[in-house]
Amino acid sequence: MKKNSIFLVLLLFVQLAGFAQDSKIPSSVKNVESKVDSILFMMTLEEKIGQLVQYNGSWDLTGPASEMGNKQKEERLKKGLVGSMLNVLSVDATREAQKLVMENSRIKIPLMFGYDVIHGYKTMFPVPLGETASWDLDAMEKSARIAAIESVADGVNWTFSPMIDVSRDARWGRIMEGSGEDPYLTSLVAVAKVKGYQGDDLADSTTIAATAKHFAGYGFAEAGRDYNTVNIGEYELHNMILPPFKAAADAGVATFMNSFNTIDGTPATGNKMLQRDILKGDWNWDGFVVSDWGSITEMIYHGFARDKKQAAEIAIKAGSDMDMEGGAYESSLMELVQEGRIDESLINEAVKRILRVKFKMGLFEDPYRYTDSDLAKEISYKEHREVARDIARKSIVLLKNENNVLPIKTSVKNIAIIGPLANDKDSPIGNWRAQAEPNSAVSVVEGIKAAAGKNVNITYAEGAKLGMGERSFLMPLEINKTDRSGFAEAIEKAKKADLVIMVLGEDAFQAGEGRSQAKIGLAGLQQELLQEIYKVNKNIALVLINGRPMEISWAAENIPAIVEAWQLGSESGNAIADVLFGKYNPSGKLPVSFPKAVGQEPLYYNQQSTGRPYSEQHVTFSSYTDVGKEALYPFGYGLSYTTFEYGVLQLSSEEMGENGQITASISVTNSGKRAGKEVVQLYLQDIVASKARPVKELKGFKMIELAPGESKIVEFSINEKMLEFYSANKKWQSEAGDFNVFIGGNSKYLKKAGFTLNQ
Ligand code: NOJ
Repeated sequence: MKKNSIFLVLLLFVQLAGFAQDSKIPSSVKNVESKVDSILFMMTLEEKIGQLVQYNGSWDLTGPASEMGNKQKEERLKKGLVGSMLNVLSVDATREAQKLVMENSRIKIPLMFGYDVIHGYKTMFPVPLGETASWDLDAMEKSARIAAIESVADGVNWTFSPMIDVSRDARWGRIMEGSGEDPYLTSLVAVAKVKGYQGDDLADSTTIAATAKHFAGYGFAEAGRDYNTVNIGEYELHNMILPPFKAAADAGVATFMNSFNTIDGTPATGNKMLQRDILKGDWNWDGFVVSDWGSITEMIYHGFARDKKQAAEIAIKAGSDMDMEGGAYESSLMELVQEGRIDESLINEAVKRILRVKFKMGLFEDPYRYTDSDLAKEISYKEHREVARDIARKSIVLLKNENNVLPIKTSVKNIAIIGPLANDKDSPIGNWRAQAEPNSAVSVVEGIKAAAGKNVNITYAEGAKLGMGERSFLMPLEINKTDRSGFAEAIEKAKKADLVIMVLGEDAFQAGEGRSQAKIGLAGLQQELLQEIYKVNKNIALVLINGRPMEISWAAENIPAIVEAWQLGSESGNAIADVLFGKYNPSGKLPVSFPKAVGQEPLYYNQQSTGRPYSEQHVTFSSYTDVGKEALYPFGYGLSYTTFEYGVLQLSSEEMGENGQITASISVTNSGKRAGKEVVQLYLQDIVASKARPVKELKGFKMIELAPGESKIVEFSINEKMLEFYSANKKWQSEAGDFNVFIGGNSKYLKKAGFTLNQ
């Protein structure tokens, strides 16, 4: 057959197969590949390149684009030269944008609409670091499900979430967006989130495509400074950074986003080893990679590309499929192909990946599938708030509770609530708040007033403002360092109280993108206020509202009760009150270490063994002579209003054969007076290996609930797979030898046993 007739046959096939909206391709498309091929065959090079372009929807799409740049964008949409858009919100706006493509373009390939839905869309859940402290994977899946439902009701069908960058540095503002310092826990959260967003069927009109980001190494920015250089070796990359991404890929995440950083000198966006060799090669993942915002052109600033054109060449060769608002692909790919600098097959491959995702989302079946204005009417925001309250209280970590200050006793009749965040309805929403209304969270004052009942007298004083002026995503926060005019009132109120609840921490936008800090203590006058109040009333419960681990050594030493309440989202104040009054017995555990001093950062429990491991006191060991090397509160730590006792750790055998398995069991008893939940944690250590191994690594956990006096035997099965690591042989394998097994309620105080792996 001549090429022309093949073309006509295919044209017919494509039209019959129905990539146009009025024909019906079943959502469970089995022959996606042949459909993708047929469409690709139809496309001109210009149209193909268009699919690799993502525009920011910076204009009102329900009216004509007025500015020149936007007019041009609109024209290109009409020609079908855009693959997706971000930040286009509302059913009307996404429908209008989709119409521009579907009613004007030649091939009519629907757009995807992406947005940063990080911890909820309208209903806000705890920031991801806080939510991970619940260690409740079902809850985390559920909040993602709800976020998806609320997103599609506003026309958004693709979220740039979950962020699964393992992050160990509290200075890094984006630590709030991830799941902390442990690759195993982060991997499980990654899978839960992907399931929550994408469900079982991406084509379901209430599911959205997820994005595993940022690939890779972004959380290891040197000195915790955002966008900074990452210097890690292959061993660390494979063992610490890649596992959550592999888990997300295996869970079928639709897209990946690469990252701004260089890694070992190569920008992640231009990194062939990461994107082509590992992700698309070894892992055989079939989705597409979107760049981070302008990260292709940023390679010029890295000094890795001369100009936009070279940046585009490097990125496409390295496997970056879609250019987010960078303009490099749009301006350069055509010339690069014409000049023979890149082969069209590279573009074909990227286009196929994008079309494949669009097929799976059911967009070819119905391009308007995610623009149903009736969906919003069906949503019960009230029910979503109830779920948000439950997840929020599960995320709270009780750090200290001397003399059982908490839960608040019925004998307490006068409570003074003090602090800049006490009546703040905005900070608990945190950064990356999608479409949450500003000032829409329940404040601590409101939550406590609602929970306390009439017999308790509640007073409130701000004491000192934390930030001055406006808060916003892009503005740096101006911290109040001088205005103490509210101190006197706060001190007077504290004097008269039976219990003071101090609410301190971070402003809404203190953590997040571009919000790295060299100091991580209580900013502004907060520390001073705390100490002044302490002088007049020592019966203080400190509630922390924050996005990152903070340096709170003074408080840890002096304040009897400390509650880590993160930025808990819409229901923050109610959730905090549930815990303070004992309606909910705290069960959260830290997903990240809290330092004694910022100078310990990056601080993480799963460090490699050093050659000088032993002492805190002596000068010739790997430690700090002033504060030591231990965390103030370690990974996995969190108290309850009851206590748990761990029995003897027993192993079913002290030997494990190849492909073998042994069982570790331990009895856990609720030795206190209240029912409570405990996260029982399993850690393993490979004592001698071909590479220095971490002192311990989380390999399993179980949440149990015990009545007072009740005991349970908790069992973990340990198999050879769990002993594997990316070894000196550059592959995942276990190595024969001795292993330590640790079980306990945090990463520090653990029961220990050992076994030998024979191979
Ligand atoms: C830059 C951030 O790094 C990324 O996480 C986000 O998804 C994009 N901007 C889009 O807003």
